[in-house]
Amino acid sequence: MRNYYIAANWKMHMTVSEAVALAQDLVAKLGKSKERVMIAPPFTALAAVAQVIRGSSLVLGAQNMGPETKGAHTGEISPLMLKDLGVKAVILGHSERRHSYLETDELINRKVLLALEQELQPILCVGETLAEREAGKLEAVVGGQVREGLKGVSAAALATVTIAYEPVWAIGTGKTATPEDADAVHGYIRIVLTSLYGEAAAKAMVIQYGGSVKADNAAELMAKPNIDGALVGGASLKAETFVPIVSFR
Ligand code: 13P
Repeated sequence: MRNYYIAANWKMHMTVSEAVALAQDLVAKLGKSKERVMIAPPFTALAAVAQVIRGSSLVLGAQNMGPETKGAHTGEISPLMLKDLGVKAVILGHSERRHSYLETDELINRKVLLALEQELQPILCVGETLAEREAGKLEAVVGGQVREGLKGVSAAALATVTIAYEPVWAIGTGKTATPEDADAVHGYIRIVLTSLYGEAAAKAMVIQYGGSVKADNAAELMAKPNIDGALVGGASLKAETFVPIVSFR
């Protein structure tokens, strides 16, 4: 039976004390979960949350990182700083970074390569807007984001990369892609991965779904053959809504 990879993206929520309280609750309720669980607090709460989850099975993640290790980059956070705090995974190319902060595939690819070089596990986010879907560009957009995001990633390094498919129109809207729709896109991502890395690597790739994942749709989504986990936003902000997602089976 496969293990699922469920990640919590707290986005720009939580003061340090709120983050600590939630992390304590999650350690108590999920500290021994059989699923792989990652939580990504805002940068300001990473150090405090790292202390709380130490010794548990919860993995510490960051929501973004800068494309350089150090230097004159005002406002950026280096992968070295993340590692220093115990961060193991990093979300890259989230649609909010792509659309609100105009991150390009080229920049996201630089971050993916740097994360891998620094032994941080990237979660590369991809996904189409509603307009792109309606214009029949879903495969071109998602396929392009996968190809460009992984440019220069070796087959060996790919094993530590996760892809998160997050249709932009399903994020924070309460609209979820149907499990069938999501599974079809995940299947397409595997076709792209097969063309890049071969069938075995494509099969082994962990592909999360994100976009209005809740306790009441998690089991249905996760039952699909190509869906290996979830990247959860809104429902990850409270133990009472996140724990049932992780404990969907
Ligand atoms: P919601 O779960 O709030 O739709 O957010 C999804 C997301 O963007 C996770 O990265």
